[in-house]
Amino acid sequence: MIHSKNIIAVKQLHFHSIIFFAVLIFFSSCKEAKKNNEMQIHRGITKINWGTADDKPVYLYTLTNKDGMQVKISNYGGTITSIIVADKNDSMGNIVLGFDSLSGYLAKPPYFGATIGRYGNRIADGKFKIGDSLYRLATNNGKNHLHGGIKGFDKVVWDAAATVDSVPELSLHYLSKDGEEGYPGNLQVTVKFWLNDDNELSIEYAAQTDKPTPVNLTNHSYFNLKGDVTSTILEHTLMIDGDYYTPVDSSLIPTGEIKSVKKTPFDFTQAKKIGERINEVKGGYDHNFVLNKKNDSLQLAAVLTDSSSGRQLTIYTTEPGIQFYSGNFLDGSIKSSDGKPIDQHSGLCLETQHFPDSPNEPGFPSTLLKPGTKYHSITKWKFSVVK
Ligand code: BGC
Repeated sequence: MIHSKNIIAVKQLHFHSIIFFAVLIFFSSCKEAKKNNEMQIHRGITKINWGTADDKPVYLYTLTNKDGMQVKISNYGGTITSIIVADKNDSMGNIVLGFDSLSGYLAKPPYFGATIGRYGNRIADGKFKIGDSLYRLATNNGKNHLHGGIKGFDKVVWDAAATVDSVPELSLHYLSKDGEEGYPGNLQVTVKFWLNDDNELSIEYAAQTDKPTPVNLTNHSYFNLKGDVTSTILEHTLMIDGDYYTPVDSSLIPTGEIKSVKKTPFDFTQAKKIGERINEVKGGYDHNFVLNKKNDSLQLAAVLTDSSSGRQLTIYTTEPGIQFYSGNFLDGSIKSSDGKPIDQHSGLCLETQHFPDSPNEPGFPSTLLKPGTKYHSITKWKFSVVK
């Protein structure tokens, strides 16, 4: 026979466990709701005030796709400040070098994420001829002209327009005036960035001029697919679809030769670790590769992979060349927004472009834009994960 006191005790126990489980369910559903809220993805484009430069307002735009991939771009310098993508464990991380605030960029880092123009890479002695006219450009790299000069397109404030039709898109516009940094002609430049739901970021460049001028536009993002500025890119593997490259002299000006990569440290035709032969290249990789392209349609240029995170970047371009720069001049003197030194090889650039110093190299594809014609170029970065 069960004692009535025991019955009461059992009933009380029952009551307490019901309360306990009810409280547990309540808290776990709150937690779930919070998680869902955090995970709620706002596909589209947002804009925040980011300060001023040249007395003009600077904004930071965030493009987000349906999987939550995000690309942040500022109209200061047409700069990509971060690209946040998933790794093989679905953990999101930023895979380009950049800063959280405008002040980082006003301190003139080496072109982090910037739009480069009017001419990407070097022009020897800062001069070139068009017909019989000699043009002298601003020199900002020893005696040479680099990435558009003292105040290139990376240091100006662009007009911006954001739209979301089928995908989030940011359109930037800049008028580079006749004589700017020594270049002839008023150049109207438009750069469009759009992010689709297949984790592809496209960058489209267009320009028109009223006088003949060289034009070579690119983007200078430094990738570190591990998303960790304290680790180098030497373990990343790289494939470049280029059987030839353009050797350079001691001031990184092309010699004019177009040389085979076969049996040299420049052979990336099969994917290999960047660190594998970098010590055989004085100063590290800082060279233009001639892409194996037959025409100027959008074609495969390079594949960069980091097996530790599983992240992979595949680059397609309409351009004939790609500058592979292994972050050789980074030396820890610049700090990331969270105070970490940005050391040598903590990021690498793959700049789709025409060849450096083309205005002085008749054997290279021409970069001359004439009035009445249109400059047009597209590069697409596809981000994926390999397990
Ligand atoms: C060039 C490097 C240069 C770097 C700027 C690269 O595109 O090839 O020589 O130092 O940009 O930081």
